[in-house]
Amino acid sequence: MQWRTQVGIVGAGPAGLLLSHLLHLRGVESIVVERTSRAHVLARIRAGVLEAGTVAVLREAGLGDRMDREGKPHEGVAIAWAGRGRFLIDTRRFTGKEMMAYGQTAITEDLFAARDAAGGHIIDEAEGVALHRVTGAPFITFDKEGAPHRIDCDFIAGCDGFHGVSRQTIPAAVLRTFEKSYPFGWLGIMSETPPYPDICYVHHRRGFALASQRGPNLSRYYVQCDLSDTVDQWPDDRFWSEFKARCPQEMAQSIVTGPSIEKSIAPLRSFVAEPMRHGNLFLAGDAAHIVPPTGAKGLNLAVSDVWYLARAFAARYERGETHYLDSYSEMALRRVWGAERLSWWLTNLLHRFPDESEFDERMKEDQLEYLRCSPHAQASLAEQYVGLPFES
Ligand code: APR
Ligand code: PHB
Repeated sequence: MQWRTQVGIVGAGPAGLLLSHLLHLRGVESIVVERTSRAHVLARIRAGVLEAGTVAVLREAGLGDRMDREGKPHEGVAIAWAGRGRFLIDTRRFTGKEMMAYGQTAITEDLFAARDAAGGHIIDEAEGVALHRVTGAPFITFDKEGAPHRIDCDFIAGCDGFHGVSRQTIPAAVLRTFEKSYPFGWLGIMSETPPYPDICYVHHRRGFALASQRGPNLSRYYVQCDLSDTVDQWPDDRFWSEFKARCPQEMAQSIVTGPSIEKSIAPLRSFVAEPMRHGNLFLAGDAAHIVPPTGAKGLNLAVSDVWYLARAFAARYERGETHYLDSYSEMALRRVWGAERLSWWLTNLLHRFPDESEFDERMKEDQLEYLRCSPHAQASLAEQYVGLPFES
C-alpha cells in the first residue's frame, strides 16, 4: 500500500506518539510506523519522574486528567548519604515548581488512547523500516504481513530510540557522536508495596540506591550493581537487604518490602548525536541522545525535543515559517547538553566507581555536605532538576 502524509514518524514510543498527538492538535497530519507491537511498547517499564515542563505539556495537550488523578506531585527530591538523614532539594521552595511521579508506561497508554480517539494512524509490527531521500522528497518503506508499503511525506521525524534506523540514515560524514559508558549498572525492581514517601537518591560506600514510586501501592527501587551481574544473582532477599544496607537507618526501617513483580538490569550511558536534523529528517528523543537515569532526564528530554519539533512543524504549515525548523537542532541540543551535564555530574557524585581512592570518596562526601548546607547550591540543583524553561 502507499500513503501520503505531512510528517512520517518512525517509532511509537513517548517521543513518536506525543509528536503525533501535538501535530494533530495543530492540524498537521502524520503517520506513525512502529517496529514492534503495541503490546510490546506498552510492556516496557521505564522512567517515572516528570519535570514541571513535561507536566505542563501533557496538561496543555489534554493528557493531564489521569496523570493528575494517579500521579503524585513531589515538592522536590531527597538525597541521603553515609548513613546520615536525607535532605530535600526543595524544587517548590527554590523554583515554585514541582516534579510529578507518573510512569512512562501510563503516559504511553494515555498517548495511544488519545491517538485512537482522534483516529490517529499508527502502523505497528512494521518490518525492515527504511528512510529514503531524506534531503529531498522523503519517503519511508517497510513490510507488513509480507507486503511492501510506502509512506511519502514532507518531513520524517526519527523517534525510533537509540537502536533505531533514523540516526543511521544520517551520513557518517555529517553525523558527530559523543559517548561515555559507566562501569556499573542499575538493578531495578517494581513491587506492589507502599512506596517510600520521597524520591530519594542514596550515596553509600557500598554503592548507589534510589527509592521511587509509580502509585500508592507500587514502588520502584534501584541499586547500583556490577555490569557483569545478572538478575538471577539478585533474588529479592538479597536486593532488599542490600538496598537497606545502603540507606540511612531511619529510611531503611521505613521501607516496606515485598515480592518483586519486575526486575531488570540496565547499563548507564551518556550519548549525544549531532546534528539532530539532516535535510527533512529530524531526530527526537533517544534516537538523538541518551542520559544516565540519575537525573531522570531521558523522558523529559524526549518531551522537550518533541515540543520544539511540533512548534516548528506547526509554524511551517500554518504560516510558511521555517525559523523553528532551521533552529531546531541547535535549540534542542542546548537543552540536551545541559541535561547530559547534570546527569553526568549526579552520576559521578552519587555512585561508587571501581578505581576510586579514599580521597575521591571524601571529595564526594564534602560535595554532598556542601549541598546539604548551602541553599545556593540547592537552588542551582533544584532549577536544573525540575527543568529549565523551554526556549521561546
Ligand atoms: N522502525 C520503527 N520503529 C522502531 C525502529 C525501527 N527501525 N527501531 C526502534 N523502533 C521503535 C521502538 O520499538 C520504540 O517503540 O521506536 C520506539 C522508540 O521508543 P523509545 O526507545 O522509548 O524512545 P523515545 O520515544 O525517544 O522515548 C525516550 O524512553 O527509552 C526511554 O529512557 C528513555 O524515558 C526515555 C524515553
Ligand atoms: C524512576 O522512578 O524510575 C526514576 C526516578 C528517578 C531517577 C530515575 C528513575 O533518577
